Amino acid sequence: MFTRRVAVVGTGYVGLTTGACLASLGHQVVCADIDTAKVERLRRGVVDIVEPGLAELVTEQVSAGRLSFVVGAANAVSEGFPGESGSGELDAEIVFLCLPTPMGVGGVADLRAVEAVVEETRELLAAGTVVVNKSTVPVGTAGRTAELLDRADVSVVSNPEFLREGSAVHDFLNPDRIVVGCDTAEAAERVAALYARLGAPTVLTDAASAELMKYAANCFLAMKLSYVNAMAELCERVGADIGDVTEGIGYDRRIGQAFLSPGPGWGGSCLPKDTHALLQVADAADFEFRLLRATIDTNTRQRQRIVDKVRHAVTGRRTGSLTRVRLGLLGLTFKAGTDDLRDSPALAIAALLRQAGADLVGYDPALVPDPSNPDKIAADEVDGVPLVSDPMEAAQGAEALVVLTEWPVFRTLDWVAIAGAMKQPIVVDTRNLLDPATLRRAGLTGIGLGRREA
Ligand code: UDX
Repeated sequence: MFTRRVAVVGTGYVGLTTGACLASLGHQVVCADIDTAKVERLRRGVVDIVEPGLAELVTEQVSAGRLSFVVGAANAVSEGFPGESGSGELDAEIVFLCLPTPMGVGGVADLRAVEAVVEETRELLAAGTVVVNKSTVPVGTAGRTAELLDRADVSVVSNPEFLREGSAVHDFLNPDRIVVGCDTAEAAERVAALYARLGAPTVLTDAASAELMKYAANCFLAMKLSYVNAMAELCERVGADIGDVTEGIGYDRRIGQAFLSPGPGWGGSCLPKDTHALLQVADAADFEFRLLRATIDTNTRQRQRIVDKVRHAVTGRRTGSLTRVRLGLLGLTFKAGTDDLRDSPALAIAALLRQAGADLVGYDPALVPDPSNPDKIAADEVDGVPLVSDPMEAAQGAEALVVLTEWPVFRTLDWVAIAGAMKQPIVVDTRNLLDPATLRRAGLTGIGLGRREA
């Protein structure tokens, strides 16, 4: 089997998953990070992020001698790979940039991390190296990276990732497609060949199309969710049920069942950032992307809609006051299966509830002490919301519980005991996660999104 020497710069969600998975495909991988302590932890197999299977894969690949970690991009790209003698002497053939591209001023992606690494490594790259951008970057970044590199003998390729947090390893090894964009076919084919064993459909295209494809996918997903959230609201007004509606439309293969669950709004590290960035791209190209703007506006409004729902549920009035009303929040991460709080709709809603005067207390299964990872310190508050380590504590004296993240464990809580601890037996379920009949039997009033009145 053919193997390549691959350097991966950046060991966040994308970089670490890419490095460990490419190693598991048989390639020789060196991952670099600027955080010395993190590199030390990774060498010991300690992975800071919650990502099923990733820590095991890292340990396995390190033991197999295919994966190693170094401090600094320069050490990975140049002489980071063992040669005949076993010590570092060979250069990387392919260099993946998996760096943060946070939302900068006005929604434009901030490319300083990418630029710094290009600056650091440009003179060290061996002739014929392929530099691959895996981070989500504005259209044109491959061209800009090539300009900054200023190396006619180095190609720049765009190979966007489509990994979901919480199933990143699975998604990497079972991709719907591989996208490789480059203006030179030979470099694109070399990158595509890294994934050959996965047997996924591969789209070879130019760099700009590959870069745009990532935004096009995430913005389409965001649009689908805003559509569903708006549809759930309409369901409430006309007495229809969103669960039945989405089941019915999902059987249409052109629509599909996935990504049709209404919620408190979409969040996370990608969808909010990418929708804003694409709007910027459109603005810069003098194109008024109304559909995308409406997608974002619908999402912003969704948060206020949840607050209004809570207000109505607790006070019985649309304009009732939430001042000093105690509310228990169940779930604060942006979705279940992760400890990631970036752009979490739960936190945005918590901020609005606090502004409205409510006293909040939050519980999230990913934010409690983890006996299997004593290195991880559990916070006692997040964004001003005090955290408790048990859902019962969140229910104690609360006038409503608000389910904001779809953690499956919430389904099987002792709802009878919870009802007994609450001041008012109300549950606002923004994920339509809980069984309404179970809540009813426990003496609770459950209020979901777009659900037919029970
Ligand atoms: C997303 C894309 O799915 C992935 O392909 C891309 O590479 C990175 O961005 P991720 O941010 O991990 O992945 O989250 P995802 O599972 O897509 O969820 C995004 C948001 O939509 C979350 O807030 C989630 O709760 C919400 N969502 C998702 C819903 O409200 N309903 C759904 O049916 C699905």
